[in-house]
Amino acid sequence: MSKFDKNIPYNDLPLLPPNADIETKKILRKTISAGRALAQLNGTLKNLPNPTLFLDTIYLQEAKASSEVENIITTNDELYKSLVADKKVENSATKEVLSYKEALWLGLEQLKEKPFITTNLCISIVQCIKQNTASIRVTPGTTLRNTKSEVIYTPPSGEAVIREKLTNLEKFINEDNTIDPLIKMALMHYQFEAIHPFADGNGRTGRILLLLYLKLSGLLDTPAIYLSEYIIKKKADYYKNLRNVSEKNDWESYILYMLDMIEETANRGLGRLDKITTAIDNTAEDIKTKLPKIYSKDLVEILFRLPYTKRQHLIDENFGNPKTVGNYLMTLEEYGFLKSVKVGKEKLYLNERLLNILEGK
Ligand SMILES: Nc1ncnc2c1ncn2[C@@H]1O[C@H](COP(=O)(O)OP(=O)(O)O)[C@@H](O)[C@H]1O
Ligand SMILES: [Mg+2]
Repeated sequence: MSKFDKNIPYNDLPLLPPNADIETKKILRKTISAGRALAQLNGTLKNLPNPTLFLDTIYLQEAKASSEVENIITTNDELYKSLVADKKVENSATKEVLSYKEALWLGLEQLKEKPFITTNLCISIVQCIKQNTASIRVTPGTTLRNTKSEVIYTPPSGEAVIREKLTNLEKFINEDNTIDPLIKMALMHYQFEAIHPFADGNGRTGRILLLLYLKLSGLLDTPAIYLSEYIIKKKADYYKNLRNVSEKNDWESYILYMLDMIEETANRGLGRLDKITTAIDNTAEDIKTKLPKIYSKDLVEILFRLPYTKRQHLIDENFGNPKTVGNYLMTLEEYGFLKSVKVGKEKLYLNERLLNILEGK
């Protein structure tokens, strides 16, 4: 096998499984603790009184973070306003983050119909993220560069080569049952990024695949975990670890990084869920005491579905006519539960408590 050269298309990228010890003592230990954290998160998510309540929010947070890894930056405020308001989003970063969230939902929907990760699924995902008809790269010349514009990696070139490596990856994901799923997840992520099948959107598609795989392998019934939050914090290590697999066949450090990502974000997710459920309980108690006439469990849940709400959301949930629900929202604002803001001609209502928890304040 020829030596790896970052400037030459890596058509010799080895197929999976790797020719290396991927079950070292360190890795196996870390697999146990990461698996435990994940199981705890899974249990907590399952036992939530209304498990689908936060999904849009959690998926959107992951979408925002994963896009931020690629320097596509938006704020939570912009994001949630755009999601809720009628007014069209103008900002391209916000648009891309919203598309990312749609791509994640699309992937999850497709898994329900066909429980496999396939090349076609990856193509649908990247098209949804990019809102175009991109497919496997056909023209040569794709390189990965650092911020100084130096080449750090040149992925395989030629559609046939790329497709062959993707077929091997597909088979590995769907058929190899000899490796622990958490280790497998790390392996498949490197391989997908190293194949780099698309001209753009590979990082984001690859990170959506991580969530889909967590679902597919049964590790998380609802893949509500902000993995990319970890990558943002340790981005240099993410890049270095990926590079060292290609350059030095150093799988161990890379796998440990991925397992640590799982463990840390599962634990952080647990902490956040705990804060949100406490905030919901406290808000419910508060509204019950101060505004017994308008209190209902369903109303409180609406306030925590997304950081912003509006009259139409309440109308859709049969809380009454526009005038009645308008009064509800005004009263909730008077008592400090919500804060109104104008977006275009529309009035949105912000639940600051929820936004603060999401932002880790
Ligand atoms: N040395 C490397 N080898 C393989 N993949 C890498 C390497 N360095 C970075 N990557 C991956 O490439 C991604 C960036 O590729 P890109 O197609 O621009 O994705 P996106 O458009 O989602 O930003 C990174 O997020 C990372 O996952
Ligand atoms: Mg990019």
